[in-house]
Amino acid sequence: MSDFCIVILAAGEGKRMKSEVPKVLHEICSKPLVNYVVDAAKLMAPKKIVVVISRKRPQVREVLDRDIKVAFQAQPLGTADAVKAAGKDIPANCRDVIVLYGDTPLITAETIRTLYDFHLEKNASCTVLTTHLINPRGYGRILRSETGQFIGIVEDKDATYLQKSVKEINTGMYCFKKDDLLEALAHIKPANQSREFYLTDVFSWIFNKNKKIEACVADDFREVLGVNLKTELMEASQIIRQRILENFSGQGVRIADPLTTFIDETAQIGAGTEIFPFSVIEKGVLIGKNCSVGPFCHLREGSVLKDKVSIGNFTEIKNSILGESTRIRHISYIGDTTVGKKVNIGAGAVIANFDGRKKHKTVIKEKAFIGCDVVLVAPVVVGKKAVVGAGSVVTRDHNVPDGALVMGVPARIVQKPKKKR
Ligand code: UD1
Ligand code: MG
Repeated sequence: MSDFCIVILAAGEGKRMKSEVPKVLHEICSKPLVNYVVDAAKLMAPKKIVVVISRKRPQVREVLDRDIKVAFQAQPLGTADAVKAAGKDIPANCRDVIVLYGDTPLITAETIRTLYDFHLEKNASCTVLTTHLINPRGYGRILRSETGQFIGIVEDKDATYLQKSVKEINTGMYCFKKDDLLEALAHIKPANQSREFYLTDVFSWIFNKNKKIEACVADDFREVLGVNLKTELMEASQIIRQRILENFSGQGVRIADPLTTFIDETAQIGAGTEIFPFSVIEKGVLIGKNCSVGPFCHLREGSVLKDKVSIGNFTEIKNSILGESTRIRHISYIGDTTVGKKVNIGAGAVIANFDGRKKHKTVIKEKAFIGCDVVLVAPVVVGKKAVVGAGSVVTRDHNVPDGALVMGVPARIVQKPKKKR
């Protein structure tokens, strides 16, 4: 069993986001910021994860898994006060406490592992993860002595002109010996511009007690970006989106244009599938092997594409299953529909699934042919190998028998199914 727990701070006000939504609930690829940090923390298999949230924003609780312990901070008095709020939830038998911030979604378990291993190797009382930034504005700066020894952290707001020129910054990821942390927290005072209790002051306090403080330098600054502003949210989104796309590419999916393709990380896509530009694939969508999606496609929640499906320009699919080798190449809306194998749906075909009050289901059986500009008013069933002529409106409950040809508005049978000999 591991010898550490992880505390994640998510109780800040997030004023700089200029939004009613709590900062850690802002989403990247439909996942709240805080959950990126929680997911990385889980991979470390700690004894316990404690997330500190604000009493004033209890809705943060709702996005966290039930097995995560939540501690409440009464007032946003600063990061040191937030860690203090988690104090009673830190197991007594933990040697170390890793502290992470809920607004650093790019963090990975490998980075946390590097920090933790460094901390153990140095047998430090506390260790901070740092990195170098070309533009360090807004971040706490790492202070080192003339010999390069790490001696403390100064916040951007409190830094002198000279200190502001330091490019090495505090990433907001730390590892502490539990007993030293708890002792130091009891002594932190809000002696700064913001009148806040800074967690970063723990370092100088511990340093002054002649205990070992260490700074571990991360190479990849893209792992540690803190999100305080909407522009930083945008920056982090781009990096995460790129990571997700690289992951799908690694699984054999061809993404023609990463700049205009949005795929949720929970989607599943089979090898050999090609995604063309300007396509959006939402949460939980399942796409088989050797499919073709886009350009300009929107696959919404509940969409399942079996192998070799081809979906083209300006097609939206919602809560529908498309059978193997089915083709919907142009300007269609398919909602709440089960489509069989080898169905062809022509340009401009629409499923009218909503009657103004309720959504209804449609079934299109295998090898059916739906002509251009057809409207199928749900609930309705189009039989096997049936043909719906161009421009027809098949009204609700007027099911099309297997093998029949229907046409017109409203659609009528013009050719009965051929009898089997
Ligand atoms: C903090 C660090 C800074 C570092 C930067 C890295 C401090 C004092 N400063 O600054 O050195 O470079 O992160 O991203 O720690 N929070 C609470 N309760 C509070 C205040 C904050 O839970 O009372 C939480 C926030 O929700 C957030 C995290 O702590 O997830 C960090 O707070 P934030 O206000 O974003 O600090 P920064 O100014 O980014
Ligand atoms: Mg921050």
